[in-house]
Amino acid sequence: MRMQKSQVHISCLLAWFLFTGCVVTRAAETPVYRLDGGRSTYAFGVNERGELQTLYWGGRLGPNDQIPAAHSLPEWASFDSSHTNTPQEYAGWGGGYFTEPALKVTFADGNRDLVLHFVKATPGGSQSLEVLLKDVSREVYVTLHYSIDAETGILSRSASIENREKQAILLEQAAAAQWTLFPGRYTLNYLTGRWAGEWTLNQEPINGGARVIESRRGSTGHQANPWFAISRDSQKAGGPITADEEDGEVWFGALAWSGSWRFTIEQTQLDEVRVTGGFNPFDFSYKLNAGDHLETPVFYAGFSDHGLGGASRLLHRFELAHVLPHSPDPKPRPVIYNSWEATEFRVDEAGQMALAEKAASIGVDRFVMDDGWFGQRKDDHAGLGDWYVNPQKFPHGLKPLIEKVHSLGMDFGLWVEPEMVNPDSDLYRKHPDWVLNFPGRPRSEQRNQLVLNLARADVRDYVEGFLDKLLTENDIAFLKWDYNRNWSEPGWDQVPADEQRRVYVQFTRNLYSIFSELRKKHPKIEIESCSGGGGRVDLGILQFTDEVWPSDNTDPLDRLVMQDGFTYAYTPQVMMAWVTDSPHWLNGRSTSLTYRMLSSMQGSLGIGANLNHWTEEDFATAKRLISAYHEVQPTIVRGSLYRLVSPRNNSPFSSTETVSRDQSQAVVFGFVHGTQEGRGFPFLQLQGLNADSNYKLTWIEGKTLLPTPEVASGAWWMNHGLLLDLRGDFKAAAFRLDRQP
Ligand code: GLA
Repeated sequence: MRMQKSQVHISCLLAWFLFTGCVVTRAAETPVYRLDGGRSTYAFGVNERGELQTLYWGGRLGPNDQIPAAHSLPEWASFDSSHTNTPQEYAGWGGGYFTEPALKVTFADGNRDLVLHFVKATPGGSQSLEVLLKDVSREVYVTLHYSIDAETGILSRSASIENREKQAILLEQAAAAQWTLFPGRYTLNYLTGRWAGEWTLNQEPINGGARVIESRRGSTGHQANPWFAISRDSQKAGGPITADEEDGEVWFGALAWSGSWRFTIEQTQLDEVRVTGGFNPFDFSYKLNAGDHLETPVFYAGFSDHGLGGASRLLHRFELAHVLPHSPDPKPRPVIYNSWEATEFRVDEAGQMALAEKAASIGVDRFVMDDGWFGQRKDDHAGLGDWYVNPQKFPHGLKPLIEKVHSLGMDFGLWVEPEMVNPDSDLYRKHPDWVLNFPGRPRSEQRNQLVLNLARADVRDYVEGFLDKLLTENDIAFLKWDYNRNWSEPGWDQVPADEQRRVYVQFTRNLYSIFSELRKKHPKIEIESCSGGGGRVDLGILQFTDEVWPSDNTDPLDRLVMQDGFTYAYTPQVMMAWVTDSPHWLNGRSTSLTYRMLSSMQGSLGIGANLNHWTEEDFATAKRLISAYHEVQPTIVRGSLYRLVSPRNNSPFSSTETVSRDQSQAVVFGFVHGTQEGRGFPFLQLQGLNADSNYKLTWIEGKTLLPTPEVASGAWWMNHGLLLDLRGDFKAAAFRLDRQP
C-alpha cells in the first residue's frame, strides 16, 4: 500500500465522464491509497465530503504515477444526486443513495439513514490496509480490510461492522465489498446450473439495471456459484467484441462464503458498473447489540489483461498459494476409488474388501466407502444422524475393512453427512427440536431428510463430537462430507424473534469452526466438500476442505463441459473426477474406458465404476493410464491451464493444455464428441511453452494425423502445432511434452 498526498485546488471531472464543466473544490490535501500487486493497481481516495471513493482498478500503473485525488461527481440532474453518482468503496444506504448499498441499517429509534465517512486509514505493511468509516452522526463504525497478493494482484476485501450505540441496531444488508468499473461496455460471465448440470458458463452484455446472482438456500447452491468475471468489450474495428479466452481485460471475483449469498451487478445511470456482494439480504437481518460487531466474508477480486484464461490462471494460483488448507503447497490428491456408483447403500465388509482388492490392483491410492455404512441406513429413508457402524453390515466395526485397505497399500476414506437427519432416526426421535423449523408449521422433507440447526451450540457440539470420536477410534484419512438438501422453514425458535435470522450467519460460521477444530485435533485428515455434487463449492469452504465433488453427473462428455466451466473459478487440484460405468446411468451414453479415463484425468482422478464388472482389458487400460496420470499429475493440477478448444456451444471438439510453472512440462488432452462429414480435429497450436527450449513428445494415448517431430522447439509446438488423429464419436487423445536438457 502506498499513500500519496495530493494538493488539490481545482478539479475537472472530464477524466471520468463527459460532463460539461468543472467543479471547484475547496483547497484540501486529500489522501490517495494505492495497492499494487502482480500486473494490477487498485486505488481509492477520500473526497471532499469525506466519502471513500474508488479511483482506479486495472492494469498496473507506473510507480511514480500520481493518481488524481478523489472528487465527488456532480449531480446529473435533480433525480441523481452527487451522492448516488459517486462510486464509493462501501456505501451506506442513506443521503439519497439509490444504487445498491453495501450496508443498510435500522436504528432503535426508527432512523434508517446511514452515511459513512472516512475516519482514518492504518497501513499494515505494503500489501494491506485497514480503513475506518463512521456514520456522520451515529456510533456505527465500519472497518474495511484490504490486502493485495504481490504475485497475482488478487485483492482480499471484507468489512467489520461495529455498533457503539447504546441500543441495538438491525443490519438488513451487509456486503463484503463493492467494486466499481469505469464507464464502458462490458460482458458479464457467471456460472449457473442445477443438480447433475452444474457449471454452465453464461456470457451476456451488461446493460442498464441490475443483474442478481444469488443463493437463498442457506448454502452456496448448484444453481449459481459465487464467482463473476466481467470482460471489457473492445470498441475497435468491428466492435464491440468482448474479451476472449486469451486477450482483453477482465475483472473477476469470488466470495468466500458457503451460506446464502448475493451478487448485484449493476450498470448505473452513468454507465459505471458496480458489483456488490456478500450475505444475501433476502430474509436476512442481523441484530447487533450495543458493543457487538459482525464480520463479513472475504470477497476476493482481481484483474487480468489476458482474457478469461488469464483470469482463471490467476485464481488457480491464488487458491493453491493462499486459500486451500495446505497452501502454499497442497499435495496432489491421491487417486481414489469410491464405492457409491458400484454399490450405493448395499455396502458390507466382504463386498467392500473385494472392491478394495480390485482398486489396489490398478494403482488406486485411497479407498473411500460411501453412504450406507451407519445406523439403520438401507436406503435414503433412515439412519442420517445415527453415526454408529451398522452391526449387520460390519459386525466387527470398520477396523477389519480399514486394515485390509491399509494392507493393500491404500489409505481409507469415509462418507458422512453430518448436518442432516432422517426423521426415521434415533437422533430425531430424541431431539426433534434440533432441526431448522418454525414451531407448529410443517417440516418439509427433501430426500426424506431435515436440516439440523447447526447455528445452535448444542447441535454444533454434537456434530463435532461424533466426528471427533469417529476419527479418534478409526484410522480414517479422508471424509467425503456431503450435504444433500437446501433449507426450508429456517426458524430458530430458541432465540428471540428478532435474532432468529442470525441463522444465516451462525450456521455457516459453526460449520467452519467444526472443520477447523477437527483439522486441529486430527491434522492428517483430508476432507471433500460435496453437496449432491457441486452444491457447496466456494472459496469459504475451500479454506477447510482439500477438494470438492463438482457434480453427481459423471458422464464423461457432460463432465468436459462442466470442467470447462468449473475451472474458470476453481483450480483443477480440487476438481474430483471419477471414471464410472458405461452406458452412463444418467443419459445412457456409451463411451470407451479410455475416453472416460482421459476426461477425468484433466482434474484429480478417481474411479467410481463397479470393478466387479470390469474385464481383464479394462483393468489393464486403467492401470496403464493411472500410472501415466501419476507421472504428470503435478503439472495437471498445479500448472497453468490453457483451454485450446472449448467444448461449449455444442462444439464437436475440445482440448486443454496445462503447462508446469517452470515450463518444463506440458500435458495436452483432446476429445471429439461426434464429427460430421469426415471433418477432423482442428490444428492444435500450444501455448505457454518456452519458445527457445526443445520439448520431446510422448503419447499417453493416440497419435497425430500428419508426421510430427518427436522433439521440436517450444516455438514449433506453439506456432506450427500438430494435428491429432481424432474423428468419429467419443474419441480421445493425450500426450505430454517434456523439456529436453
Ligand atoms: C450424494 C453424493 C453422491 C453420493 C450420495 C450418497 O448424492 O453427491 O456422490 O455420496 O449422496 O447418498
